[in-house]
Amino acid sequence: MYYENKVVFITGASSGIGKEMAVQLAKQKAKLVLTARRADVLAEVQQLCLQYTSHCDTIVFDLSKTDQIGQLATEALAKHGYIDVLVNNAGVSQRSLTIDTDISVDRRIMELDYFATITLTKALLPQFVQRGHGHIIVISSVSGLMGFPMRSAYAAAKHALHGFFETLQTEKPAEKLYVTIACPGRVNTPISMSALTGDGKPHQVMDDGQKNGIPVDTCVRKILTAAQNGKRLIKIARAEGLLLFIKRIAPGLFFKIAHKKGMQPH
Ligand SMILES: NC(=O)c1ccc[n+]([C@@H]2O[C@H](COP(=O)([O-])OP(=O)(O)OC[C@H]3O[C@@H](n4cnc5c(N)ncnc54)[C@H](OP(=O)(O)O)[C@@H]3O)[C@@H](O)[C@H]2O)c1
Repeated sequence: MYYENKVVFITGASSGIGKEMAVQLAKQKAKLVLTARRADVLAEVQQLCLQYTSHCDTIVFDLSKTDQIGQLATEALAKHGYIDVLVNNAGVSQRSLTIDTDISVDRRIMELDYFATITLTKALLPQFVQRGHGHIIVISSVSGLMGFPMRSAYAAAKHALHGFFETLQTEKPAEKLYVTIACPGRVNTPISMSALTGDGKPHQVMDDGQKNGIPVDTCVRKILTAAQNGKRLIKIARAEGLLLFIKRIAPGLFFKIAHKKGMQPH
């Protein structure tokens, strides 16, 4: 029960990985602070969590309003006076070729997946340093480790997260502040539904790759165990794991396979 009584702040807690993380942590009696935009679904997750833990607060917030994230951090901190674990999970994916993607879409994805994440992290960093300990879990992706068709902005944002958080890991601002970067492959969540297309409209398709992806409970269990064990990076992937290996040992082959796989309809 590593997470028992720990105050855990989760972004993107209304769906998919964030929701499952909230439920698994509630079962471990963590004190939860959950945020997302959709008040109704967030309230449902809260009710689910309150079946297992006596502490579950919610804050409805749109993380794309990066200039207001300082207020979100203050509000989240005020719930218990401190945060033990920050889970940077909220994100949006992409389904469009580079050539078809309007630059405004690149900026939207970068704003949420990268700038919102680092803005919130920076807002909470002083309290972690002051307390001398804590844990930041970052939900990146295998797209943070390799390019893949239809993901130029998404892969760019996730790669940027690696640069930021790996640097933080080297700076080690507090002796016992740990950072775990999680890189899942395709997970069975509705992320492809909200993924942005070239003109910024949602894809609104539950891709086969998503449907047949890693079960979300398995993915979350592995992330929480990795964080508990102080791992800096964890890859949770099936075929994408093999692709990463091929990229390392035979880059030419990687580009051929990634092209063939990624240019097919999903
Ligand atoms: N599923 C996968 O295959 C996969 C693989 C690798 C990495 N990931 C990463 O895992 C994370 C979670 O994705 P998921 O698969 O669980 O997707 P999901 O089911 O679509 O959940 C995304 C979450 O982000 C929140 N969110 C989206 N835009 C937001 C905004 N502007 N402000 C605040 N919250 C916002 C959503 O809540 P609201 O809509 O209520 O705001 C939702 O709770 C993402 O960072 C994603 O890149 C997913």
